[in-house]
Amino acid sequence: MAYQTLCKKTLLSPSELVPAMVDNTEIVIIWPEGGRPRAFNARCPHEGVSLAQGIFNGSTLICPAHGWVFDGHSGEGLSPSGCEMVEYPIQINGEMIEIDLDDDSADED
Ligand code: FES
Repeated sequence: MAYQTLCKKTLLSPSELVPAMVDNTEIVIIWPEGGRPRAFNARCPHEGVSLAQGIFNGSTLICPAHGWVFDGHSGEGLSPSGCEMVEYPIQINGEMIEIDLDDDSADED
């Protein structure tokens, strides 16, 4: 576990998508309605296009390239199913959000 700074806590708002870059890894932080902020690798599991310009409506994230749809709470593919975005654990440290890029198996709530 090696947490490092991701962004300021104040940058995040419910139903918003915030792109970030950490150690040359592009991240999208999304805050689904009724949930908590989650950080995913920005590379779409389809063909690797960045999800930073994706459409997030507070529930689902749609890839701008070919329209694959992902669940904003879990990162699982909804259309098509059988795929998922890579999620990283995050934590709050004072006014900052930190991310652990070494652990891409985040699935706890
Ligand atoms: S690269 Fe995202 S849907 Fe094709």
